[in-house]
Amino acid sequence: FSMEKLLAEALVRDVPDFPKPGILFKDITPVLQDYDALRQVIDKMTEQSRPLKVDVVVGIEARGFIFGAPLALELEVGFVPLRKLGKLPYNRLVEEYALEYGTNTVEIHTDSIKPGQRVLIVDDVLATGGTAAAAARLVERAGGQVAGLCFLIELDFLEGRKALENYPIISLIRYQE
Ligand code: PRP
Ligand code: MG
Repeated sequence: FSMEKLLAEALVRDVPDFPKPGILFKDITPVLQDYDALRQVIDKMTEQSRPLKVDVVVGIEARGFIFGAPLALELEVGFVPLRKLGKLPYNRLVEEYALEYGTNTVEIHTDSIKPGQRVLIVDDVLATGGTAAAAARLVERAGGQVAGLCFLIELDFLEGRKALENYPIISLIRYQE
């Protein structure tokens, strides 16, 4: 018995051709609407990230916010949003990256991370790794240290890990194809 396998089979829905033809989208909304599933996801993320001794959690807009904020509360640390272009109001650092489908820009507030803080980057899915790598660059430019990255889902066949050097990576559900 594996919670991850059960979750993956029952509560992660494959949606073909979204958002573009040829993309098989992993829809996590069934996980979110099920209290027991969501609770287990946050508990597992907490348990696996606690040894990383993080000082702050950075969540990647938009779906990284859903897991990042409750995880930060469990770890008893603060939460920092990493947002898409034009959403943050104050002084920002900016990074552009290539996505599985298109390109994008992310930003972080310049004063969001204190020098040397150990940062856990959180998102729902690790696909090509472009988003997470841009997040790691922003964290380091902001003066933080990437203690690790945490995802609900990792798409192994897209080899996103390769974009993330040797940071510790936590992923609860991994797909080989
Ligand atoms: C998706 C997903 C990850 C990212 C993974 O976000 O939520 O953030 O793509 O892809 P990558 O590893 O190839 O970079 P998306 O940009 O679609 O936006 P959203 O989270 O705001 O819906
Ligand atoms: Mg996203």
